[in-house]
Amino acid sequence: MSTILGIESSCDDTSAAVWKDGKIVSNVVVSQEIHQKWGGVIPEAASRNHLQNIAPVVKEAMAQARCEWSDLSAIAFTKGPGLMGPLLVGGQFAKGLAQALNIPLVGVNHMKAHILAHLIEDPKPDFPFLCLTVSGGHTQLVWVKSAVEMEVLGETLDDAAGEAFDKMAKLIGLPYPGGPHLQKLAENGNPKAFAFTIPQTPGLQFSFSGLKTQVMVFLQKQGPGFLSENAADFAASIQFTIIEILMRKLKKAIVETQAKRIALAGGVSANGPLRLAFMELAKHQHCEAYIPAFQFCTDNAGMIACAGFELWKAQIFEDLSCSSDPRLKF
Ligand code: KG4
Ligand code: ZN
Repeated sequence: MSTILGIESSCDDTSAAVWKDGKIVSNVVVSQEIHQKWGGVIPEAASRNHLQNIAPVVKEAMAQARCEWSDLSAIAFTKGPGLMGPLLVGGQFAKGLAQALNIPLVGVNHMKAHILAHLIEDPKPDFPFLCLTVSGGHTQLVWVKSAVEMEVLGETLDDAAGEAFDKMAKLIGLPYPGGPHLQKLAENGNPKAFAFTIPQTPGLQFSFSGLKTQVMVFLQKQGPGFLSENAADFAASIQFTIIEILMRKLKKAIVETQAKRIALAGGVSANGPLRLAFMELAKHQHCEAYIPAFQFCTDNAGMIACAGFELWKAQIFEDLSCSSDPRLKF
């Protein structure tokens, strides 16, 4: 029997969740709306918001889980990657709690946690499986051998898929974060209306910055009324191209690894047409396909608590000690 409190603060969502006896029993997420007015996340503002939100969010997650502090077996937190200030807020809060309660502290890699979100609910993929992780900061193809053993087969050379969605949505004049808005706008558009080039990147690497430049240059050449008449078609064509880039590399990775199971993870996996394309590719390649429930796709502490449980089982803990020794080992 184990109870793990997970804390996530890598970007602009403050989240806490409780994993109890094999399942997530609470998952509280507070998204910071303030960044919308700047069209992107301002790290300092995000840090201050995390400071305000973290204690009430953790208390709420504990209350929803009907959990006492003394029930906790360990505290798991997002160690990185992410924004430095926001990570420090969650990390120091988690460390303080673990010290006060005298329980282990588990540092979780945010990208691995997106992948391990597949272990939260049934149906869960057996190991090994191939995972395409698509978020605002990363795009990776990962060969997942076990909960703690993973190999990155390929990743983006420049922008991430979510970043590409957000930046191109901004060019069209959509609010931040643009991914979901672009999907909505594309609903009534023709994905073949405008043809953009698919980048020829080596191996299993991705690239999205060329597409962003193409879209920007194309827009600059159009007359002022272009978007009012073509916005839906334009958004659908951009979305189609991003999905095409992702699916071509995923197909290549399936062939190379001879994967029998494929998984989709990260915030962009909330995208409807991407989910459809993923399911179709799986069918075509005779693979089992896995996508976590929507609430575990975008940033959430449920995935941190779940990943934390796996590391806790493997006894992989953070050092809780402090030292004033000036010769402290590097
Ligand atoms: O994993 P995530 O919540 O945060 C990071 O770790 O980055 O991913 C956030 C990204 C944002 O770029 C957001 O625009 C994108 O996921 N996203 C979507 C959709 N929902 C979220 N992109 C396209 N379509 C969506 N429906
Ligand atoms: Zn994320």
